[in-house]
Amino acid sequence: MKLKIEGGVRLTGEVDIIGAKNSALPIMAATLLTTGKNILHNIPDLKDVHTMMSMLEVFGAKLKLKKNILQVTIDELNHIDPPEDQVKQMRASFLVAGPLLARLGKIRIPLPGGCQIGSRPVDLHLKGFQALGAKVASEHGYVELESKGLKGASIYLDLPTVTGTENIMMAAVLAKGKTEIINAAKEPEVVDLANALNKMGAKIKGAGTDRIEIEGVDALSPIEYTIIPDRIEAGTFLVAGAITGGEVTIRGARKEHLGAVLGKLEEMGHKIEAEDDKITIVAKSVGKACDITTAPYPGFPTDMQALFASLLGVSKGTSVITETIFDRRFGFVDELVRMGANMKVQGNTLIVVGVKRYSGASVTAGDLRAGAALIMAGLNADGITEISGLEHIERGYESIDKKLKLLGAKVSIEL
Ligand code: EPZ
Repeated sequence: MKLKIEGGVRLTGEVDIIGAKNSALPIMAATLLTTGKNILHNIPDLKDVHTMMSMLEVFGAKLKLKKNILQVTIDELNHIDPPEDQVKQMRASFLVAGPLLARLGKIRIPLPGGCQIGSRPVDLHLKGFQALGAKVASEHGYVELESKGLKGASIYLDLPTVTGTENIMMAAVLAKGKTEIINAAKEPEVVDLANALNKMGAKIKGAGTDRIEIEGVDALSPIEYTIIPDRIEAGTFLVAGAITGGEVTIRGARKEHLGAVLGKLEEMGHKIEAEDDKITIVAKSVGKACDITTAPYPGFPTDMQALFASLLGVSKGTSVITETIFDRRFGFVDELVRMGANMKVQGNTLIVVGVKRYSGASVTAGDLRAGAALIMAGLNADGITEISGLEHIERGYESIDKKLKLLGAKVSIEL
């Protein structure tokens, strides 16, 4: 399967933004902490969500996803270990570790491997579990977690790890006493998980700041909850408007989650009109170059780095992009160079010299956001671009071809 794009169309119109993948995954894992029926709204129908659904089924959950509403019913939890292939398939599956340690007191889970964007250690997750009193033993690519009852602790994170903060939070909510997480991640998805856990009856304060306090409780109840919109999908469609010199409105995104992205688009000279639940970009035909350094929230999101590299590749002047979060997140560069880009990797920095326009070519997506970057380039390119590796793109975007067509793009899926 390939995505085929005939570039050069100025995109115009409105699209609705789906629920945040990186909120759905931890909140789905958190349902393991409850007994009964949870109803989650605004759940995106994505491959990663289906992977997490099959992971929860392994532990005995009954699930149904229909029109972006996910029902997760937990009666009895099966005391078995998560299957290796599923954890390997999606790193975020490791998010079941915290809830299962809290609920079952014992779990043997495969260590998630690295992936295309870099080595993805979980040492800070394990350090947190250990601080809460769990015995942690890793061997043969597995880690065994065991505890006779978790106790609150003060945990300092060397790095503000997003899923590390989330995993430790989910283990601590049923621990005896008080836990504090220092240097916690502040992403909106961490706040969304804390809000969902509090609705289940947890006692969490400070989510969204670098210091989170958790008072352990005895049990949590199932919830009905609506997750936040996906700020990366929102950013994707704003970049699609920018790279085609178009006028695109995204509905349902939260302006306050997009500060760095909107700031950079304005720095490039594009006009942004933001109201409460909709944001419009009125793009210049060619944006100005600007420098970008990725950072933990509220800094510039690493997940938007490849898309902005694409956009800066056809902007006026030279830009310097520095990636500080992952060690292999420039995998898309060679493919963009095949489309006529003039960019060069130097360590964790990418030097981008803007060219007039990309030229269509057949290219391969190596990971989710690299695939999105190639789509952006194809929308701009002179001629036809064919993108393979759609399985990566489907992990994070719900029928992106249909949404782009809504905006006037000449896009089709070729078998
Ligand atoms: C989350 O990954 C997101 N995934 C990523 O999105 C996102 O790119 C990343 O945060 C950064 O914003 C989910 O939320 C499911 P980290 P995560 O732990 O939690 C190092 C997507 O496809 N680190 O914040 O894995 C790590 O190596 C993905 O949507 C340790 O050293 O990222 C990295 O350099 C791509 N030890 C840095 O911290 C640890 O124990 C940040 O990683 C944990 C992390």
